[in-house]
This record gives sequence, C-alpha cells and structure tokens, in this order.
Amino acid sequence: MISCTGLTKVYGKSSRKALDSVTFRITGKGIFVLIGRNGSGKTTMVRILSTELEPTSGTVTIDGVNVVENPAEIRNRIAIVPQEARTINWMTPMQTAFSYLLWRGFSRTEAKQRASNALEDLGMGKYAHSLNRTLSGGMKRKVLVATVLASEADIVFLDEPTTGLDPISRREFWEILRRTSANRFVFLTTHYLEEAEALADEIGILDVGRMVRIGTLQSLRKSIDFNFSLRIPVGQQFSMPRVERGEVFHSKEETHILTVEEEAYNISRELAKSGTRFTINPVSLEDIFFYLIGGADNMAGTVGGEDDGC
Ligand SMILES: Nc1ncnc2c1ncn2[C@@H]1O[C@H](COP(=O)(O)OP(=O)(O)O)[C@@H](O)[C@H]1O
Ligand SMILES: [Mg+2]
Repeated sequence: MISCTGLTKVYGKSSRKALDSVTFRITGKGIFVLIGRNGSGKTTMVRILSTELEPTSGTVTIDGVNVVENPAEIRNRIAIVPQEARTINWMTPMQTAFSYLLWRGFSRTEAKQRASNALEDLGMGKYAHSLNRTLSGGMKRKVLVATVLASEADIVFLDEPTTGLDPISRREFWEILRRTSANRFVFLTTHYLEEAEALADEIGILDVGRMVRIGTLQSLRKSIDFNFSLRIPVGQQFSMPRVERGEVFHSKEETHILTVEEEAYNISRELAKSGTRFTINPVSLEDIFFYLIGGADNMAGTVGGEDDGC
C-alpha cells in the first residue's frame, strides 16, 4: 500500500507548486499508471516516492514505512528507471545489468545469473554482449528495464519508459510489464493514454500538480456523467444535433460529443439520416482525460503532444 497525504513540492524559490497537496492511497498491487501532461508533476512524484527527492511538506508511506524518515528501508525494496536514464555506450547489456546488481549487493555469481536471466526474459539474450551503442532506442530501454527487473526489488518505478518508442516496441514492452507485474508492483508514468488503458490496474490523473482523479478505469468511467463518445470529423456539412445532456468540444479535427446513452442513440440516428460520417464508442480513458483536463489543444491522442522531453 502506498499512501500520500498533503504531498507538496516547491522547487527552490519557485512560486509554483510542482505537487500541490496530493492525497491518495493505492493498493500497491499490479500496475499503477500515473498520467498527465508534461509538467503535471509525474516525475516529481516518482522522485519523491523513490526517496530521491524530499517533499516540501506532506507524508508518504510505503507499506507503513515513512519514505522521508526511513529512506534506507525503502531503497532495498525499490528499483527505478528514471525518465532521463540512458545506457552507457561503451558497456554491453550484460555489463550494465551485472554492475547494477553488484552495486545492489549481489555476489558475482548471483549477479551474473540474474542479469543473464533478465536479459533472456526480455528477449535480449542474443544482444547480451553487444555494445549498448549498437542497439536501437527500444532495445536500450529494454536493457534498463531488464537491469532493474534483475534485482530483488518488489516495487519498480518506470518514468515514461515507452516515450518515443515505435508502436511495435511499445506493445512488446506492455507484454513485459504485464509479466513483471505478476510478482512485483509496477509504478509507471506515461503520457500515452492508450498505454494506461491497456495496462493499468489503477490510474491516477495528475494535472498542474493536483491529483484530479484516481481509481480503476471502471471507477473513472463511472465518475463522469457521460458514457458515450461521438466524434464527427471536420470537413463535412451537417446540422449539429441538439445535445441536452452532454458536453460538446470543437477542435481542428473534429466535433467531439460526450453524452448519455439515450442521447447518443438519438444523435447517432440524426447523423446517420443526414449521411454524416461519425464514430460512436463507450467513453475511453482519452475521453475521460479530455473531459477532466479539457482543452482540445491539449490532446492529440497523447497527453502533451509529441514532446518527449520534460
Ligand atoms: N529540478 C527542478 N527544478 C525546478 N523546477 C522543476 C524541476 N523539476 C521539475 N520542475 C518543475 O516542476 C513541474 C513538474 O515537473 P515534472 O515533475 O517533471 O512533470 P512531468 O514529469 O509530469 O512532466 C514543472 O513545472 C517543472 O518545470
Ligand atoms: Mg516527467
């Protein structure tokens, strides 16, 4: 169980709170995914939970242990791949994982065995002795993830591990994370909403340092008033059906309607009658995020656009 109470972080003399009184409790089982635009505070949260950074105020406990007061106790249990982590070019995947495990206190024999198993597990066995610099971006990420998974840590923090990966590598990663979460807790951040939808047992939505909503996908769905999403691409002449119970968003690409089942049915019928192209779906995490965070310009399938910095 991870519990945060009034967690606040102000960097230096900044007038802005990177985290602003964040309070939540999560089970610490399976996969927790923290989503939010760039700058919403995801990395700050990960750095505090993983004992790298002290909060300005508030408390954090992991299984009852206070993270700020007893960091050493927490460190034995956690492993982290920070957002900015890079492999060292002149090392091999095997050397990368092996040296990390030695640093964590494993014997040479056990470190070697664990490193080799983890690389094999992630399909990296045949590259174990290639130089990291010869590997693709996706494979380099796998090396970092294999390295932490080779450890004994039962809580693994991965800060945007899939940012910038191609769709196939990303899906391979999902498989790895699903397997990993069978016997470990994975705390993942991402700005890909479909990733959160595909992987998360629980989801937290962070915006401007505040936890806007937290829960299972099902409970997030229930927490908004609408259950259907209609999208009408621009570039068509159509008369906009009346929407009584719902929200309508206009963007450069589409008109987006969130509404209740009965109205969704009526609107669909009207649109179909006039030959208008549209799609209708039960609300997705993207719809929920869109509704809670708002602003068409904030969304283009991903949160925060294509920037893989921050
Ligand atoms: N080391 C730092 N010093 C000053 N401000 C920072 C630092 N790290 C992050 N911030 C600021 O804190 C806010 C949250 O950043 P961050 O936690 O990195 O968000 P995210 O990971 O969601 O992109 C942003 O406004 C960012 O500019
Ligand atoms: Mg970040």
